[in-house]
Amino acid sequence: MGKKFYIETLGCAMNVRDSEHMIAELTTKEGYEPTDRLEEADLILINTCSVREKPVNKLFSEIGVFNKRKKAGAKIGVCGCTASHLGEEILKRAPFVDFVLGARNVSKITEVLHRPGAVEVDIDHDESRYAFGEFRTSAYKAYVNISIGCDKKCTFCIVPHTRGEEISIPMELIVREAEKAARHGAKEIFLLGQNVNNYGRRFSGEHPKTNFTELLRAVSEIEAVERIRFTSPHPLHMDDAFLEEFADNPKICKSMHMPLQSGSTRILKAMKRGYTKEWFLDRAEKLRRMVPDVSISTDIIVAFPGETEEDFEETMEVIERVRFEQIFSFKYSPRPLTPAQSYDDQIPDDIGSARLTRLQNRHHEILDEMKRERIGKVVDVYFEELRPGGQAAGRSDNNMLVIVPGSEELLGRTLPVRIVEAGRTSHRGEVVA
Ligand code: 5AD
Ligand code: SF4
Repeated sequence: MGKKFYIETLGCAMNVRDSEHMIAELTTKEGYEPTDRLEEADLILINTCSVREKPVNKLFSEIGVFNKRKKAGAKIGVCGCTASHLGEEILKRAPFVDFVLGARNVSKITEVLHRPGAVEVDIDHDESRYAFGEFRTSAYKAYVNISIGCDKKCTFCIVPHTRGEEISIPMELIVREAEKAARHGAKEIFLLGQNVNNYGRRFSGEHPKTNFTELLRAVSEIEAVERIRFTSPHPLHMDDAFLEEFADNPKICKSMHMPLQSGSTRILKAMKRGYTKEWFLDRAEKLRRMVPDVSISTDIIVAFPGETEEDFEETMEVIERVRFEQIFSFKYSPRPLTPAQSYDDQIPDDIGSARLTRLQNRHHEILDEMKRERIGKVVDVYFEELRPGGQAAGRSDNNMLVIVPGSEELLGRTLPVRIVEAGRTSHRGEVVA
């Protein structure tokens, strides 16, 4: 009987890719096989997120449960951003944990596994050229990292402390990885980084000067690649050349994530975001003009320290004007190691909750208006997964989730689909014969 591992992944797409890398290392180098039954695992991994406080608190209760349910002798490893941020403290609070492996140290998984009590959380560790083993969760869509870490200093964000300084991955490695994935059937390449349109600012070692727009062109030249997505871009770096490439390159999917965070220039300044409300609106409105079908998603934090009713109204005004197709909205959560946690004017929780509810309610109303316009439209859907009850799901170029009656024969194909029912987050359709 081979050894088995169980892995739980929290947080963002970067974490999903980190988990894929760990799975690849464990299966190709250590002979492990995956299991989704915790009780039969010899190794239990949790890949954590620390961007807000709640999931961090949940971590300790969750690994406590893992410890009770695990089979005798099974190891538990805490990985990812909370591992970076808490390090040794995890072993103090949960002594049954066997090792702690920070984000950007994932290549060491095969080593810490054999070193009880190991804590590897160096945020300067450079994995930008590491040749990971091969593993992909989806046969149809491939995540490809383009940079590690983040150079921004947003005052609310813990990520620079968990993922360290930004290093770009050499372009030739990215292109080679995308080529390989596409040859194996992944027609969609999803480029990943904390701040993708800052690509090319720093490499480890010598590398010719380049930028994200050039990277997009290089990936789109790969014949077998049909669709390119990326996350997350930063509104500050959305220059005209980038918007033009986005608009004109037919392989780039027409959905853009534009993390607003706040609509108030005063708050944006306190957050150190580097742009104003006017710049954001200018970019979003230009994008809508250049690409009429574009869908725009965003992240918004309400109740950042010092946010007044007037500041919040400015955020509401931006959502009125941009009419985002998707909003990920959060109540500000004070994070250790960040400047904003010690700002004087923290906002009471009930005010934060009320603002969040107001924002979400208005967003839902806007979505309900927009979704009516989608019924009857025909969109090209790239089918990626099966759903229970004889259904297949995929996404349109502009990221609408579309579900149709269908089976395996749809997977990996892009087909025209008529929308017959539109919800806020998913749509029902029928393939147009
Ligand atoms: N509190 C609330 N939300 C946060 N985010 C990042 N840090 C915090 C925080 N301290 C949100 C931002 C970011 C998204 C990934 O998480 O909106 O874009
Ligand atoms: Fe991803 Fe940020 Fe969470 Fe780390 S803290 S997993 S980078 S969202």
